[in-house]
Amino acid sequence: MNSTTSAIVVGGGIIGSAVALELIRAGVRCTLIDKGALLQEASTAAAGMLGAQVEIHQPGSFYELCRLSQRLYREWTEELEQLSGVSAQYIQQGILRIAWNEEDEQELRSRLAWIQDAEWMEAAAMREWEPAIASDVRGGLYFPKDHQVHPVHLAKTLQAALHKQGCDIREWTPVFNLVERGGRIIGVRTSEGELYADHVIVCAGAWSPTLTEPFGFRLPMFPSKGQCISVKTDAPLIKKTIFTKGGYIVPKQDGTMLIGATQEEAGFDKRCHVSAVSALHAKAARLLPALEQAELVSTWAGLRPGTRDGLPFMGASSKLPGLIFSTGHYRNGILLAPGTGKLIRQLVTGQQPDMDLSAFTPDRMFATVD
Ligand code: FAD
Ligand code: GLY
Repeated sequence: MNSTTSAIVVGGGIIGSAVALELIRAGVRCTLIDKGALLQEASTAAAGMLGAQVEIHQPGSFYELCRLSQRLYREWTEELEQLSGVSAQYIQQGILRIAWNEEDEQELRSRLAWIQDAEWMEAAAMREWEPAIASDVRGGLYFPKDHQVHPVHLAKTLQAALHKQGCDIREWTPVFNLVERGGRIIGVRTSEGELYADHVIVCAGAWSPTLTEPFGFRLPMFPSKGQCISVKTDAPLIKKTIFTKGGYIVPKQDGTMLIGATQEEAGFDKRCHVSAVSALHAKAARLLPALEQAELVSTWAGLRPGTRDGLPFMGASSKLPGLIFSTGHYRNGILLAPGTGKLIRQLVTGQQPDMDLSAFTPDRMFATVD
């Protein structure tokens, strides 16, 4: 790679940070810009499940993207840990997805026709592994390869690695506009003035639509609010993540359990509400009755970069040359970080991407009325 190639990455969440690190390691001069501090939005509000199986509902390109990224994960975190000296708290335990009744069982079993790494488990076998699970569960699917990380610790390791690699990081520097000359995007206008590069990469999470709006194009995206709680019991209750329709319990290395998450369209409001906190707790306590007596440790909310068709926007747009999109990772951006970093690096450096990205083309925005 020609070391004079340059890129500006707008947005320093997990996606922008993963992209920037990949580019720097490929010899691209990279500036990473965030309107606030790095990694303080959705990326550290997340649960950290690497749910390439448990969270995907149908086969196709998105499932392939999830699996591609999942395959890279362990090595990616090990490299980050070597670079930074900070652990991402990768936990190699699978996820159990609970069926409560016959209908749930049928729906989950039907996924075995296309899911690659899953097996049906009867309730008794599940409770041998996890005795704290409620006695009235029917059974469920076990996903042995769906591991987890701690997003806050992952953020620390990624940030330290970026500093070590000499990334030009500009925090507290909002990008107000994309700069266009002769029909091509050549830079950004920030609170500190204009910056120019060969490639501008949009990784601005739920805020991404504001960047293309001045050109008359609106990315069909929306902030999807997720409220979470963290709780603790006297002794650890579970080793594996327990997932059910509309909720999950993720045991963390420090003994706390993360219970998530709501899915709301509430604009950019990140407040937590008592009603949501108690509903999350009630749902979790139905799964693990011992949680009735749990201590509440904290509550928070984050804004997922939601897309109307559930797919991310990844790649160049025919109408805005010079611009590359890498946004809209919705409920799976933690999982998708290493795969996205690699695929965007391949695009920037002119290599053939490891997978066909046409399903994720940003040109979808021209066909959609939001
Ligand atoms: P963000 O982390 O939101 O980062 C975007 C960044 O862009 C921000 O730092 C923002 O300040 C910056 N920015 C925006 N506009 C500008 C501008 N104009 N100028 C400069 N900077 C700008 N995913 C999983 O894989 N597994 C999970 O278990 C999981 N659980 C989740 C649970 C919850 C409650 C939530 C909310 C999300 C969860 N997700 C999970 C989804 C995941 O968190 C997101 O998909 C991911 O964090 C998106 O990353 P991002 O970098 O695109 O966005
Ligand atoms: N992927 C979990 C969530 O978005 O809540």
